[in-house]
Amino acid sequence: MKVTVDANRCEGHARCWEICPEVFSLDETGHGFVEVPEVPSHLVAHVQIAEQNCPERAIILS
Ligand code: F3S
Repeated sequence: MKVTVDANRCEGHARCWEICPEVFSLDETGHGFVEVPEVPSHLVAHVQIAEQNCPERAIILS
């Protein structure tokens, strides 16, 4: 599974990073970005929870 953050949608709610800091980071403006685009299998469930909890629906799974 691959994950990206749509920078045009992200408003910096930081839930992605709170839920799965192994995959998501925050930049200097507090916006989320992906550190590990190819999600390891043991983190897939966490990334799915992050996707469901982003208020802007900015997390894209593929
Ligand atoms: Fe942005 Fe959503 Fe994370 S708004 S900081 S991608 S929880």
